[in-house]
Amino acid sequence: MRQGWIMYAAMSGSASTSRFWPLPGLARIPGSRLLTSTKKTLEMKKVAAEIAEVAECKTPDKKAKIVPRLQTVRVYRWNPETPDVKPYMQQFSIDLNKCGTMVLDVLILIKAQHDPTLSFRRSCREGICGCCGMNINGVNTLACITKVKESPKPLVIYPLPHAYVIRDLVPDMEQFLEQFRKIDPYLKRPGEDEFLGMRQILQSPRDREKLDGFYECVMCACCTYSCPPYWWLGDKYLGPAVLLQAYRWVIDSRDMAHKERLAKLQDFYSVFRCKTIFNCTKTCPKGLNPAKAIVQLKRLLAGFAKKEKPDLDTPLPNPCGGEEQYPCRKE
Ligand code: SF4
Ligand code: SF4
Ligand code: FES
Repeated sequence: MRQGWIMYAAMSGSASTSRFWPLPGLARIPGSRLLTSTKKTLEMKKVAAEIAEVAECKTPDKKAKIVPRLQTVRVYRWNPETPDVKPYMQQFSIDLNKCGTMVLDVLILIKAQHDPTLSFRRSCREGICGCCGMNINGVNTLACITKVKESPKPLVIYPLPHAYVIRDLVPDMEQFLEQFRKIDPYLKRPGEDEFLGMRQILQSPRDREKLDGFYECVMCACCTYSCPPYWWLGDKYLGPAVLLQAYRWVIDSRDMAHKERLAKLQDFYSVFRCKTIFNCTKTCPKGLNPAKAIVQLKRLLAGFAKKEKPDLDTPLPNPCGGEEQYPCRKE
């Protein structure tokens, strides 16, 4: 293009059209149209403004990004390797622009950039594995699905309360998991062991719906460690998470061991220490209602309710004609 001329691809109208205009103040070039009129100057200014507007719109606002969003975070620290140092709260100043939006992201940033000795559990970061349960600003919840709210007040993080601490934010879940094992959290069909895995066990949609609100539990123990009776009698009382699971297996239409399951819970402590305070329901990060499950379990134990018969029965395979149809796994 000749110097002193501007090629302008029309912003509106045909994009392939090019126009050639001289810059204001240049001498007339023979054979071309001299664009010194006020009208053309105004048009050029308008186009320049339009281009500047588009450029501004497309360029991210760098200033907004570099303004740090500082948040004070206080984290419980205790290291069993230095038993002389008592547990203490360590304070960090975190720029929220440098991490994701959840509390777990803040902890990961602290571990990566401030203190690599900080310990906490996490795996899925989706609220599914249930291992990042901790006490955040006084509420037991999952760190990976709890949003950080920018606030002049510090974000205070403790391990789950009333649990022994292994280190920093890692609670000892041994007792909790042992209690979970005790309720046999798996399908039981006495007398059918040799047919396991050889056929579908049928369940009607209506029976399946009875499990809604219970099967979603991720065993994070947030409810159990918010339950006052569990704080005082945790070795005898099973706590809301385990009892919700117990109820889930009792009412499963495919399970045939509900009588045996209920008989195991029929004592003074396992279920009946629940005082229906609803702390568990209030704190559950998955929005479940363990207190309701416990009430239903109490009704079954007291004989006020009975487990309904399943809508669908699953027949046993015919051992005579069924060998090919149901081949034995051992062979
Ligand atoms: S309702 Fe029962 S299980 Fe839930 S917190 Fe209260 S006492 Fe614990
Ligand atoms: S009921 Fe809720 S709080 Fe309790 S273990 Fe299950 S998911 Fe966690
Ligand atoms: S990391 Fe899995 S539930 Fe939070």
